[in-house]
Amino acid sequence: MEQQINELRGRAAEAVDAATNLRELDDVRVKFLGKKGELTTLLRGMSKLTAEERPIVGKLVNEARAQIEQIIAEKNSKLKAAELQSKLATETIDVTLPGRRVHDGHLHPLTLTLNRVKEIFVSMGYSVEEGPEVETDYYNFEALNLPKDHPARDMQDSFYITEEILLRTQTSPVQARTMERHRDNEPIRMIAPGRVYRRDDYDASHSPMFTQVEGLVIDKGISFADLKGTLEDFSKKIFGEKTKIRLRPSFFPFTEPSAEVDVSCVMCHGEGCKVCQGTGWLEILGAGMVHPDVLKMSGYDPAEVSGFAFGMGIERIAMLTYGLDDMRLLYDNDVRFLKQF
Ligand code: DAH
Repeated sequence: MEQQINELRGRAAEAVDAATNLRELDDVRVKFLGKKGELTTLLRGMSKLTAEERPIVGKLVNEARAQIEQIIAEKNSKLKAAELQSKLATETIDVTLPGRRVHDGHLHPLTLTLNRVKEIFVSMGYSVEEGPEVETDYYNFEALNLPKDHPARDMQDSFYITEEILLRTQTSPVQARTMERHRDNEPIRMIAPGRVYRRDDYDASHSPMFTQVEGLVIDKGISFADLKGTLEDFSKKIFGEKTKIRLRPSFFPFTEPSAEVDVSCVMCHGEGCKVCQGTGWLEILGAGMVHPDVLKMSGYDPAEVSGFAFGMGIERIAMLTYGLDDMRLLYDNDVRFLKQF
């Protein structure tokens, strides 16, 4: 028996020695020390021994177990260390490799354009007013001289929430809201930028949501010449000193007289090109002298003061200043487009 045990020890030591990785080592452990392992089998054979022999052999078996466990533990830590070494050697990272760049964002071209327009008017002493995008029928239409069933409402088909509430079709309602906040024919010089909504198709030059800037000036003795001078000044500042403007008679219910305002083409400077369709001119806004009824409805006395108003689409201004041929570029959120500004 003793001889058997020694022989088993020797084989176990050899097997441990031969194991080249942790898996193999574990197989060795199971083979010799496991529940069905060789040492256990040997222990079972002890039933055939005499009462005197049993404790001696038992001691030998336990010693053998302890010894084998020990060499397995030693080999185990050796293999682990070796495995770590080879991992360190093969999985090194090159810390000198340049990182992936995080690109800084910046303002959207529409916001840049809007900021520029605001800057120009603020430098002329205008205040910047705001109004709600969900507006009442009263402010969006009626206070602007567009009673219910007025045919000019057809030009601005909107999204109605109820009969009386809608998404505003224009920033003009901010005119009435601002006038109402003033008393005693107090002068006003304001712009109102913001989003407006119309039931328009989405194509290269239309969007159901777009951005406008409204303007309103009220004071004693304001004339059409003031309107023209202001718009000329603005146009030169936004499109360049060489820019000329042209006023064409038009109709808006809230102004009388009303005009459509063109600027000389930003591409060809009046020669005629594809952008201006050969005319040399580009329409940029609507304007006029505030209708006396509009003044009256919001508490101003047309016998005492007069005013002018205008309204422009910011997408159009952005397209002209940046030379864009499709408005949808402004809404697609394509980084390849946006990062050019
Ligand atoms: N609200 C008009 C539109 O959306 C633009 C406009 C025209 C505004 C003339 C004005 C104005 O204040 O006087 O088509």
